[in-house]
Amino acid sequence: MFLRKHGLLLLLTTVVVLSATTTTTAISPGSTLSATSNQTWSSPSSTFFLGFVPVSPTTTPPTFTASIFYSGNSPVVWSAANATPVDSGASLRFLSSGALRLLNGSGATVWDSGTANRGASSATLEDSGNLVISNGSRTPLWQSFDHPTDTLVPSQNFSSGKILRSGSYSFILKSNGNLTLYWNDSMLYWNQGLNSSVNTVSKPVLALQSIGILQLSDTNLTSAAIVAYSNDYAEGGSDVLRVLKLDNDGNLRIYTTSKGSGNPTAMWAAVEDQCEVYAYCGNYGICSYNASNPVCGCPSQNFEMVDPNDSRKGCRRKVSLNNCQGNATMLTLNHAQLLTYSPEVQSQVFYIGISACKGNCLSNTNGCFASTALGDGTGQCYLKSQDLVSGYVSPALPSTSYIKVCPPVLQNPPPSGVSVKHKSSRVPAWVVVVVVLGTLLALVAFEGGLWMWCCRNNKRFGALSAQLADQEVDMAQVTRAIQASFWCIQEQPSHRPTMSRVVQMLEGVAEIERPPAPRLAMEGPVVSGTSTNISSNVSAFSTAAASPHDPSSSSSFQTSSVSTLTLGRNTEKVSSSLLQSEP
Ligand SMILES: *[C@@H]1O[C@H](CO)[C@@H](O)[C@H](O)[C@H]1NC(C)=O
Ligand SMILES: *[C@@H]1O[C@H](CO)[C@@H](O)[C@H](O)[C@H]1NC(C)=O
Ligand SMILES: *[C@@H]1O[C@H](CO)[C@@H](O)[C@H](O)[C@H]1NC(C)=O
Ligand SMILES: *[C@@H]1O[C@H](CO)[C@@H](O)[C@H](O)[C@H]1NC(C)=O
Ligand SMILES: *[C@@H]1O[C@H](CO)[C@@H](O)[C@H](O)[C@H]1NC(C)=O
Ligand SMILES: *[C@@H]1O[C@H](CO)[C@@H](O)[C@H](O)[C@H]1NC(C)=O
Ligand SMILES: *[C@@H]1O[C@H](CO)[C@@H](O)[C@H](O)[C@H]1NC(C)=O
Ligand SMILES: *[C@@H]1O[C@H](CO)[C@@H](O)[C@H](O)[C@H]1NC(C)=O
Ligand SMILES: *[C@@H]1O[C@H](CO)[C@@H](O)[C@H](O)[C@H]1NC(C)=O
Ligand SMILES: *[C@@H]1O[C@H](CO)[C@@H](O)[C@H](O)[C@H]1NC(C)=O
Ligand SMILES: *[C@@H]1O[C@H](CO)[C@@H](O)[C@H](O)[C@H]1NC(C)=O
Repeated sequence: MFLRKHGLLLLLTTVVVLSATTTTTAISPGSTLSATSNQTWSSPSSTFFLGFVPVSPTTTPPTFTASIFYSGNSPVVWSAANATPVDSGASLRFLSSGALRLLNGSGATVWDSGTANRGASSATLEDSGNLVISNGSRTPLWQSFDHPTDTLVPSQNFSSGKILRSGSYSFILKSNGNLTLYWNDSMLYWNQGLNSSVNTVSKPVLALQSIGILQLSDTNLTSAAIVAYSNDYAEGGSDVLRVLKLDNDGNLRIYTTSKGSGNPTAMWAAVEDQCEVYAYCGNYGICSYNASNPVCGCPSQNFEMVDPNDSRKGCRRKVSLNNCQGNATMLTLNHAQLLTYSPEVQSQVFYIGISACKGNCLSNTNGCFASTALGDGTGQCYLKSQDLVSGYVSPALPSTSYIKVCPPVLQNPPPSGVSVKHKSSRVPAWVVVVVVLGTLLALVAFEGGLWMWCCRNNKRFGALSAQLADQEVDMAQVTRAIQASFWCIQEQPSHRPTMSRVVQMLEGVAEIERPPAPRLAMEGPVVSGTSTNISSNVSAFSTAAASPHDPSSSSSFQTSSVSTLTLGRNTEKVSSSLLQSEP
């Protein structure tokens, strides 16, 4: 008797311990997961887990989200309550009523699946990553695939009307098949349409194939329209997971993770140029690139960072415009553009010259906070009527921007030679110059040799030969060629000049500005949200994917943002803009 009692107790204890460390496949009513215990519910082959994930970066006190994550703890593919963080006393309960409920430490309901009293008999986390609450019939009562957070996994259908959210950013598939990215549900900074020959879709569905193809299908389409290929598409076999994720930096990316590694790597990004994401640097934040990454700063020393520990939180005026000693003045930012997207594009554009662009904003005491003159030959000037500014500075931008501040204007100190500072750890710039020059000279020597060998004894070339030998090498020409070549190897495609611009540079018609320091070392793909070196597949995307509204110009397809402020991309408009921006 004694032994049997204790045997039973032992068995019960074992069961409890087992259920705490391993996992169940079907979750039965009455089960509970708590944030502090290390429990999870797993899919049958332990591909996905449901449990509490610490919020990153870690908070004090620690907070968690109730989430579904891939083997290796990353990536997280779904979170309850749109990733609302809960305290360490929180629990996730599958109630006997059939509702799945997230409770915080004080017992308040943070989220509920809404399946109470509908005959739910089980909840199952499937190997696809889908959490399904079912009453035994084929149609689920509720499934996580229908309520995405910020991520789509393969076999998850994203239909029009659904939303991926991350901070202030959202990704929406329009009923006309356009893929769109919004800031604050209002500012449309990316809008990708279908091939214009496909003008009617009825129920578009976006899905990511496990091999890394993002495609749009519709009953009206004979075959699915390909939106993007990930850089590693069809590689890696079955033990990799690809997901489409809206990151908190406002970019939409495809990530690849090998099973168990917990290390997602970005393989495609919707917005090629991170600085074009509206408010990436917060309000009054100015985006630019250091050697490798987008970085955020303030327009001038009239501003300070809202949070010195997080440059992406934006900047604010040290002296409010209402408290100016004397009249406000305009801070001038060269090569700077204030991002202007729909709906601002329609309401804020004026066709005036550059000094009027500055002056009109200054004299408009209530309704203008900043202005930007595109300087691209369109004669356009945007007057910012809201105290909401998102800036982009790059030597390649022809535009000039003005921001209203209280005098005196305190310009930022000039950047202290970024390229010089990081030389030691990378290939020094002079090595690059020597290699480039060496290659050029070798080429000249080789061609000269070839010419001598072929033609020296040919009488026809005799005169020409003498004439050539007399001519001196034009050093200015060589310098121009080298400078132009540095512009052509800019990492940001939007910084590279157009062909006609290059010709003008070489001919000496256009003045060549000092190019930004090139990126000197190769780096592997970066996992962090700010990575930008992941878009080498853009050309595939641009030709094979859905189409531009103007099929005659294949290059214009790369212009993924809607605005006419395409920030110096290789479009026709910008090529002319670069030409006309010269003083
Ligand atoms: C939870 O489990 C994981 C792996 O099983 C382990 O690395 C981690 O330390 C555990 N955490 C706690 C709080 O027990
Ligand atoms: C739980 O949620 C309720 C309602 O939102 C809130 O008042 C309470 O402070 C929360 N408790 C904890 C421990 O977060
Ligand atoms: C499950 O629910 C559906 C509708 O929600 C209902 O039509 C079906 O009869 C239910 N099946 C069972 C086995 O309860
Ligand atoms: C997604 O849509 C396809 C085609 O419409 C369908 O066959 C598939 O079952 C759907 N997947 C899910 C998880 O609903
Ligand atoms: C965000 O949108 C809401 C309404 O859609 C608006 O009231 C609010 O001012 C916007 N926020 C900013 C910073 O523009
Ligand atoms: C869809 O996107 C294209 C650009 O790709 C754009 O020309 C068109 O106006 C968009 N349609 C809507 C309704 O926004
Ligand atoms: C597309 O679908 C709509 C609505 O179902 C239909 O009216 C239209 O004729 C279809 N267009 C084509 C080209 O099939
Ligand atoms: C560029 O900026 C990133 C992010 O702020 C930083 O981690 C990196 O060290 C910077 N690189 C250089 C060369 O300054
Ligand atoms: C910035 O970080 C430091 C050290 O981590 C901290 O002491 C300080 O309070 C933080 N400042 C803000 C504004 O959060
Ligand atoms: C401010 O501007 C007004 C009108 O433009 C001018 O009359 C006034 O003298 C200015 N005040 C100062 C302090 O510059
Ligand atoms: C657009 O569709 C037409 C007809 O289906 C096709 O010939 C053309 O190549 C497509 N354009 C792109 C850029 O996919």
